Amino acid sequence: MLTISAIKADVGGIGGHTRPSTRMLQAARDALREAVQRGLITDYDVTHTGDDICLLMVHGHGNDNPEIHELAWSVFKTATKIAQEQALYGAGQDLLKDAPSGNVRGAGPGAAEISFDPNAKERRAETIMVFTADKCGPGAFNFPLWTVFTSPLFCAGLMMPSMKVGFRFTVIDMEHAGADRIIELDVPEHHIDLAILLRDENRFGIKAIHSRKHPHQQVVSVSTDRLHTIAGEYKGKDDPVALLRTQNIFPAPEEVVSPYFTAHYVAGDARGSHHMPLMPAPINTAITGVYCLPIVACMAYSVTADGKLSESVDVFDNPVWEATRLKAQHKADEIRRQGFVGPAMLPVQELEYSAFRDSLAELEERFHIVERAAAQYQPAD
Ligand code: 13P
Ligand code: MG
Ligand code: MG
Repeated sequence: MLTISAIKADVGGIGGHTRPSTRMLQAARDALREAVQRGLITDYDVTHTGDDICLLMVHGHGNDNPEIHELAWSVFKTATKIAQEQALYGAGQDLLKDAPSGNVRGAGPGAAEISFDPNAKERRAETIMVFTADKCGPGAFNFPLWTVFTSPLFCAGLMMPSMKVGFRFTVIDMEHAGADRIIELDVPEHHIDLAILLRDENRFGIKAIHSRKHPHQQVVSVSTDRLHTIAGEYKGKDDPVALLRTQNIFPAPEEVVSPYFTAHYVAGDARGSHHMPLMPAPINTAITGVYCLPIVACMAYSVTADGKLSESVDVFDNPVWEATRLKAQHKADEIRRQGFVGPAMLPVQELEYSAFRDSLAELEERFHIVERAAAQYQPAD
């Protein structure tokens, strides 16, 4: 078996929530190179999306492996130390617990992992995509994944015999703390039930998708931990990572990315408390846009049967995405023009900065009740 683990965390940014420093990224690369040398992992890549560092690791130890998760944790600890030395903003932001018990899930970082047999006869070659998003929550992937895996409108490949039978979605209740509260729904039959849940991107997120024709084959994994569910208060945004296997019995990369030209509105952005469109951006882009315009990057790789990564392709680093980036700016402009009013900001229970709620609480105390004067009864003539 081979396992791909993508583990992502924000442990500090230069001059605000922009991007990690070069030294932090170099330290992460050094640690993962050393892990290859001692045989713990077979290959790796290190990228950043906004202020989040993503560690992509290939290994043979399965999902939720304590050694792999502890490796990721120690890399983030090292990067935090550098961020502290450099006085970067939010140093160690996503490391919410002192030391995780062999698993970073529930401790702050986001993890997406898929294990598979690299010699399965239904997969002639292994092709993967890693989506990393900053300034939004895991529900940001609800719209693009629902559209690709339930509707030929965005993915004509669903009409082919290898995919016609559909997929099994695992959806998680992200408001539930502690153990995972999940539901499995098969599509196409239950795509409406799925929509009923996924419309609420703040509560329900897609955790996994499996093939129904080859039930052991997982095609999607998304990090679905919400930091405020873990910490009980604002601790930055959840900034998810999604792992997808593509081609052959799964949708093709060109189908998988098709919903992203919508630049759909997502929850998050500045202070984790607004709606803004999700802009596809090249990998290693700093966040510098108005109200932290959220971004998503996508890297494509091939993986050999012995766990080596090819060079990568930076999917959104291409002129074809310029029009979408412009559209995202226009959509951002439109919603920001209405400032804080109505859908421009998140509903009060979703405002990530609890300080907003404190301000509201102060005003609540100043409300008082004025009794209405009793209505005068006027008998009819
Ligand atoms: P991050 O979660 O990416 O650190 O963003 C925090 C924020 O509130 C930016 O406005
Ligand atoms: Mg940050
Ligand atoms: Mg971030």
